Amino acid sequence: MPHITSAELYQKAYDESTKNKDSYWNRIAETFEWDTKWDKTQSGDFNNLDIKWFDGGKLNITENCLDRHVKEHPNKIAIHWEPNDPSEKAKTFTYKELLENVNRFANVLKDKNVKKGDRVCFYMSMVPELLFGVLASARIGAIHSVVFGGFSAKALAGRINDCDCKIVVTCDEAPRGEKKVQLKEITDQACKEAPSVETVLIYRRTGVKINIEPNRDFYLNELMQSAQPECKPEIMNSEDPLFILYTSGSTGKPKGLQHSIAGYMLWASETFKEVFQYGQNDIFWCTADIGWITGHSYITYGPLLNGATQVMFEGVPTFPTPSRFWDIVEKYKVSHFYTAPTAIRALEACDINCVKKADLSSLKVLGSVGEPINEEAWNWYNKEIGQEKCPIVDTWWQTETGGIMISNIAGVTPAIACHATNPLPAVEPILVDDKGEVISGNPAKGNLCIKNPWPGVARTIYGDHERYKQTYFSAYPGLYFTGDGAKRDENGNYRITGRVDDVINVSGHRIGTAEVEDVIDEHESVVEAAVVGFPHPIKGQGIFAYLTPSSEGSINEDDLFIELNKLLTQKIGPIAKLDKIIITNGLPKTRSGKIMRRILRKIAASEFETLGDISTLLNPEVVEELISKLK
Ligand code: PRX
Repeated sequence: MPHITSAELYQKAYDESTKNKDSYWNRIAETFEWDTKWDKTQSGDFNNLDIKWFDGGKLNITENCLDRHVKEHPNKIAIHWEPNDPSEKAKTFTYKELLENVNRFANVLKDKNVKKGDRVCFYMSMVPELLFGVLASARIGAIHSVVFGGFSAKALAGRINDCDCKIVVTCDEAPRGEKKVQLKEITDQACKEAPSVETVLIYRRTGVKINIEPNRDFYLNELMQSAQPECKPEIMNSEDPLFILYTSGSTGKPKGLQHSIAGYMLWASETFKEVFQYGQNDIFWCTADIGWITGHSYITYGPLLNGATQVMFEGVPTFPTPSRFWDIVEKYKVSHFYTAPTAIRALEACDINCVKKADLSSLKVLGSVGEPINEEAWNWYNKEIGQEKCPIVDTWWQTETGGIMISNIAGVTPAIACHATNPLPAVEPILVDDKGEVISGNPAKGNLCIKNPWPGVARTIYGDHERYKQTYFSAYPGLYFTGDGAKRDENGNYRITGRVDDVINVSGHRIGTAEVEDVIDEHESVVEAAVVGFPHPIKGQGIFAYLTPSSEGSINEDDLFIELNKLLTQKIGPIAKLDKIIITNGLPKTRSGKIMRRILRKIAASEFETLGDISTLLNPEVVEELISKLK
């Protein structure tokens, strides 16, 4: 049950968490099951970057997610699984059944020679077996790396190779709305470029005929059926890695953020319990995919660590009709609903009767995550979905932070439209200017940094600690730099304004502009490309590419647009598709040859009046050309 049940208790918890950190966290850690108690609550800082929480402690996270609840309430429902197509049969798993399935899967992995510390790649759709598999991996001390099922073979191969996975778990195919994604076929292509893969396990989801590579490919369904439902959990050290999750950055290839067991466990669990004020009879539903961090922390770990009952949904918000989300809320009497602004905006654009015909009276708390929520979407969510009686928690956090960092607490601290509001206990946000000076006092606006490690912070980038240091801790030494800008109002409430680096947030998914540019540059008709984000009514941000062609005149813009999107789908996945392109003779550059992205962002957003001084550019005439093409 939540502890922070009043504004006074929030203040008390916050003060204690920053002044008496050790006693605050010791008390929380004692509520979990440990094989051996920790020696030291925390050590390391953002200068030495050797961060440890609960060092010396030994545990298995799945005992905390499953076994202890099975002892208390074996028949409580853990998962209501809702299939893509509502005419298919839904499934339900109690805590006891969930544990048995996890154990069976764990025994399958062991049988396939997966050992403690090995990396296991999951490339699946939202089937219960994905959840079983991730937990099974944790049960035997392996490290899971879930790759979102929308990524391409190339992107999958890159992620398998980066952490040397010897096993990949996939599905034959994945129903997604009206379409089917050929996950096994894509996995086969990826494996051609991923020599470390010894075994591919396939969950038979639709039964479509697939290629089976002898001695490498096995159907999971039969293996699980014949596996034992008991598996002793591997006893792990607090700081052993639990998972790797890849995310895009402003430069280079995706980074595999590595989270460690005990600190992440406490962070996912505490933030879930307090922010959502989850009570034992509530029904929680997070609409994210387990391929993203939200699905790790608020489907896989946070709810299960709290013994919650939740909905897991395989499909998309608009299939078979735009009422689907609301029908599911009604069907399972969902009390806590957590989704992304892009979904809210897409559903807001549909006929309001899609909402009105569903009974949403079970709802108590609404949540938003992934990108800034605009005021109109916030108001619609509040009025039409929450019927003005459900607090909306606007939860700001990142793959790197492991769990929610800045958010109001449902019904306890005030919700303010479009504001994440207050830091959670143990989170010390500060705003700094471009020179690295801390901006004190209110109101303020600057780059958002965090002082001092919290338990859930990612400990490193897999295989590249130096890159971890460079990416997050070199801009402002001693501070974690989030890559986001923020404002603080006169009362100290935070409002996140969006990324200040070269990362675009498309429908709540992070895409590095450099990654997209690298792919575009491969096209023979393009000499140079610059990619920026621009405001998009549904996706939040869309992708805009400025292209310098190799031979002007012979290029058809429409054909190039189609070809580039085909290439991006192949190399990254459909989420990296361009929304707009413009062909230009040149890109605005500084005298030292650096592309002035600030100007390109303004032009893409049609903010022609506020371009600032362009006289220092090497080629100011290009700006005029671009403006005249877009006006
Ligand atoms: O820009 C912020 C935005 O999403 C980024 C993190 O993306 P990712 O690691 O993929 O994790 C998304 C799910 C936690 C942040 O740097 N972001 C996330 N939540 C919010 C947000 N921006 C504004 N308000 C939020 N509530």
